[in-house]
Amino acid sequence: MSLKIAVIGCGSIAKHRHLPEYAANDQVKITAVCDIVQERAEAAAEKYQAKAYTDYKTLLQEENIDAVSVCLPNYLHAPVSVDALNAGKHVLCEKPMATSTEEADQMIEAAEQNGKKLMIGHNQRFVSSHQKARELIASGTIGKVYSFRTAFGHGGPEGWSADGKESWFFKKGEAFIGAMGDLGVHKADLIRYLLQDEFVEVGAFVETSAKQNTDVDDNATLILKSEKGTIGTLAASWAYTAKEDNSTVIYGEKATLRLEDDPTYSLVAQYANGETVKYELGAIQSNEEGGQTTTHVIDHFIDSILNDTAPLIDGMEGKKSLAIILGALESVETKRIYLLEK
Ligand SMILES: NC(=O)c1ccc[n+]([C@@H]2O[C@H](COP(=O)([O-])OP(=O)(O)OC[C@H]3O[C@@H](n4cnc5c(N)ncnc54)[C@H](O)[C@@H]3O)[C@@H](O)[C@H]2O)c1
Repeated sequence: MSLKIAVIGCGSIAKHRHLPEYAANDQVKITAVCDIVQERAEAAAEKYQAKAYTDYKTLLQEENIDAVSVCLPNYLHAPVSVDALNAGKHVLCEKPMATSTEEADQMIEAAEQNGKKLMIGHNQRFVSSHQKARELIASGTIGKVYSFRTAFGHGGPEGWSADGKESWFFKKGEAFIGAMGDLGVHKADLIRYLLQDEFVEVGAFVETSAKQNTDVDDNATLILKSEKGTIGTLAASWAYTAKEDNSTVIYGEKATLRLEDDPTYSLVAQYANGETVKYELGAIQSNEEGGQTTTHVIDHFIDSILNDTAPLIDGMEGKKSLAIILGALESVETKRIYLLEK
């Protein structure tokens, strides 16, 4: 069976990940693409022999498709996903899932009511070092987890977005938040996944230090406490000017795990007894040179449709990861630690 797919938004994430990964999946046919900028839609349509649209609503009405990818600026994630679900399509939506809890709930409800899959593109869960670390933590190999620090930063979206310096990423009305929402939400999702634990308290500082002409943050630091009592920090930045940092360190009773912290060994386990185990696993996807490995997100989404299984990051999972970022925003506004709802 071949699934018919549409990709809505033909900017960088569509171009570098969704479109090529759908094209590489032989159970899929890219049938339609959409971008408000006609040339972008047409360029993608030509490359993948699909039909070009500039209005996603027309696409949803006219095309007999099974699923869509929502690769749009953050403020459009919820409305477009809900429209697509209500039109009877499965949805893979980019992160952050939405701009509020209410929007996230609307997406989850629409998926349930229409009996369709909703997956959020938190690709960090599919990285080999992350999956291996999760296994080591779950099996008790590192003992009780005491604390962690996780970071995701690079030089900023101007080097990535289809619109460069003029990008929606820098506009609060369209992005809703800056580095904390763009990169921080990846790590919020990752740390929940790694620890299999939920966060109950969050405090945050954000700044706009490096970028001009923007009303969103470009540096954010969160402190977090989990249900099991693990504490840690999460940093997100668009001002790691020299090099990307995508690393996580987990400090446990019996070992420290260093993830994506060493250029050769994507996972290093340093045991309290002096032993060190270095794992050479597949590289993390990176927007930097040489980082063009598959995200596994698209294949997982397609498998979940074909096998009728729940995607690893469904709407509820996306909502829980978003909740940490929304809680951090509350903390910034109130200058207090925010208690997350269980
Ligand atoms: N999972 C990841 O690692 C990852 C990486 C980068 C971006 N993203 C996410 O992907 C989404 C898109 O980001 P991007 O980097 O591709 O941005 P981008 O600026 O490169 O592309 C966005 C595209 O959306 C189009 N667009 C805007 N409004 C539209 C509308 N109403 N209808 C149709 N098209 C419209 C723009 O013309 C542009 O081509 C964002 O939510 C971002 O957070 C995820």
